[in-house]
Amino acid sequence: METIPAHGGRLVNRETTGVERETLLERVPSMPRINLRSREISDLEMIANGAFSPLEGFMCEDDYIAVRGNMHLASGLPWTIPVTLSASDDLASRLPEGSDAALYSIDDHLLGVLHLRQKFRYDQQREAERVYLTTDPSHPGVRALYDQGEWLLGGPVSLLNRPRNPAFPNYRLDPKQTREAFKKKGWRRVVAFQTRNPIHRAHEYIIKCALETVDGLLLHPLVGETKSDDISADVRMQCYEVMLEHYFPRTRTLLAVNPAAMRYAGPREAVFHAIIRKNYGCTHFIVGRDHAGVGSFYGTYDAHYIFNEFDPEALAVTPMFFDHSFYCRRCDAMASNKTCPHDSAEHVTLSGTRVREMLAKAEMPPREFSRPEVAAILIEAMKKSESA
Ligand code: ADX
Repeated sequence: METIPAHGGRLVNRETTGVERETLLERVPSMPRINLRSREISDLEMIANGAFSPLEGFMCEDDYIAVRGNMHLASGLPWTIPVTLSASDDLASRLPEGSDAALYSIDDHLLGVLHLRQKFRYDQQREAERVYLTTDPSHPGVRALYDQGEWLLGGPVSLLNRPRNPAFPNYRLDPKQTREAFKKKGWRRVVAFQTRNPIHRAHEYIIKCALETVDGLLLHPLVGETKSDDISADVRMQCYEVMLEHYFPRTRTLLAVNPAAMRYAGPREAVFHAIIRKNYGCTHFIVGRDHAGVGSFYGTYDAHYIFNEFDPEALAVTPMFFDHSFYCRRCDAMASNKTCPHDSAEHVTLSGTRVREMLAKAEMPPREFSRPEVAAILIEAMKKSESA
């Protein structure tokens, strides 16, 4: 049984081993060095392990312009988010095109090498407009973009070492490993669920609706950089573990982490998330309300509509769309705008702010909104963060 082909046809592997690694390691001390930020480290790891296939490195100008302008790589393959490595004027002036640079973390852990093909200037405002659909610096993705250097460094990468002390080592499966796991379980049709928030009943509902029609589920919470007021990945993972213990079928669920950083690019990021999960071997991808959105920057279903702009055969991963979901007292069940005929007064919906207020006062949100086991973990986490 074959799993779905990676995006572009071949799962990329830029992790060096054996003689190739030794030879590069010998050359590293004579290379100029670049210290990567957290998002760039996530990107490097995901290029190297194939999660960003067909990318083999940080984007050169032709791909960057094509992605920014029309959501495809220069080759014509769909791709919606620039994957770039930025540099200051000063750093860029010290790096000649055609040379290698050593990539380190901020705390000087050697990660890999950039084979610099091209350095180029870029227009941050234009990227903000096209990718994030706003130039407002209060948007966290736009803010991160404006904080970058004014040059981009493009070229293939070679990974020498994985990031040090990665969080959740037991759940860190590379695309190669999730693909093997699906094969072993005999899952042909696998749906992936992206999330950056603690799991609530509406999440559980849409996940289970999707699972009804496929063979297996990859629960794939994002654990790379998120904005500071998002709940920490540690706490979210505890919530998933308790959900797996009590409410999900073990035989049909695989929990693993997605090391990507969150961009909050709404519709464009939904497509990006789908492509990444295809590289992990998933055939289907869940897109609910305001996927990867933040504040009121995107329309509730913009992340659904954007898929119409792509040739489904070129994307080759099937989005599964879900409307806003909730518990309805009259239906006496979970439902959505699509399936429930009752007035919204019957719906149990709570804003993120309201839930936080309740949890901070150690008040349990209604069972119809959150499983009590999950609420208990969140209350405990709030107590700890307040006493810290
Ligand atoms: S996201 O930034 O990763 O999209 P979140 O973790 O809240 O944020 O959402 C995970 C997935 O669940 C997304 O596809 C999102 O659209 C979907 N989702 C979240 N809440 C609801 C809801 N009440 N109804 C339908 N879909 C939802």
